[in-house]
Amino acid sequence: MTPTLRSGTAAAVMSSKGGVGKSTISLGLAETIACETPLTVLLIDADPQGSLTAMMDLENDTPRTDRITLVSLLSAALNPSEAAAMEYLIASGVGAGGSDIDDAGRLDILPVGTGLIELERQLTRSGRDADLLRAVRHLLDALRETYDLILVDCSPGLYLSTESWLQACDYQLAPIKADKISLSALDLVLDFRRACPGGTLSSWLGIVVNSYQENDAANAILGKLQTFTDLKMFSTIVPATMALQRLAIHHGDRRSYHAKYPGASGEALRQLSKEFLARMTARSASALTMTRVSQA
Ligand SMILES: Nc1ncnc2c1ncn2[C@@H]1O[C@H](COP(=O)(O)OP(=O)(O)OP(=O)(O)O)[C@@H](O)[C@H]1O
Ligand SMILES: [Mg+2]
Repeated sequence: MTPTLRSGTAAAVMSSKGGVGKSTISLGLAETIACETPLTVLLIDADPQGSLTAMMDLENDTPRTDRITLVSLLSAALNPSEAAAMEYLIASGVGAGGSDIDDAGRLDILPVGTGLIELERQLTRSGRDADLLRAVRHLLDALRETYDLILVDCSPGLYLSTESWLQACDYQLAPIKADKISLSALDLVLDFRRACPGGTLSSWLGIVVNSYQENDAANAILGKLQTFTDLKMFSTIVPATMALQRLAIHHGDRRSYHAKYPGASGEALRQLSKEFLARMTARSASALTMTRVSQA
């Protein structure tokens, strides 16, 4: 891979359907890109559920308990008098590693921390919704100075913070499963994007079919998705594999990239990473004009 990505590029991995592989694809892409390219990568867990934080065992493992979290950074970014604190926290090493791959030296993972929903609620109650978007932008801009690529693992719910990431990031990548329910959920994302103020959303990078198991029904849905050229489906299809399913189980020992992503899992992720970087490098993403998938 020889990417010439604009430094500080940020992509939100988001789709409104739960359990389609947003966290799996985020982690797989981040670790693959960190291992296969010279790019410095930050992976942000922006989901209050903290799946990625749990997958990487970052929530309660000493000495990681005093780790910087997304909530602590956002709290600092929300308070103008703490701007220096945010800069200091970032300079002191945001995610400081976090991967259990022994050769993923240029990857940092930022755990979510506790209290993201409460933070959102407080802001909404006091009519400060716009402040969260400002804080996310402010934080992201500071992080862009430090990393070549920032991946944001978003929550499935259309929370205020998810909307903020979708507005602040450059691109949106939407994992999807090749099943009927996922198609309906894709419509929700399209509705959501349409309802957002024009011109302020991240560019649509495309959908990536994940957890694919070949059968007639899944093949038919794949065929249908391919006909919607606006969706920009990635040609890489990520198969359902044991190795990818096991990402949810933290592996205590450090291991090589190939041990973590053997065979078809690693092949798919390396191919997807190439496509992902190529699309962002070409800045080929564009506005999404289509409105409906499930009833077409
Ligand atoms: N390609 C795959 N092969 C096998 N299992 C997979 C694959 N992708 C994801 N999974 C499994 O599917 C489940 C959901 O994946 P994941 O947590 O990544 O989805 P998500 O979209 O982030 O979920 P949420 O909406 O809750 O954030 C997990 O148990 C994960 O291990
Ligand atoms: Mg997730």
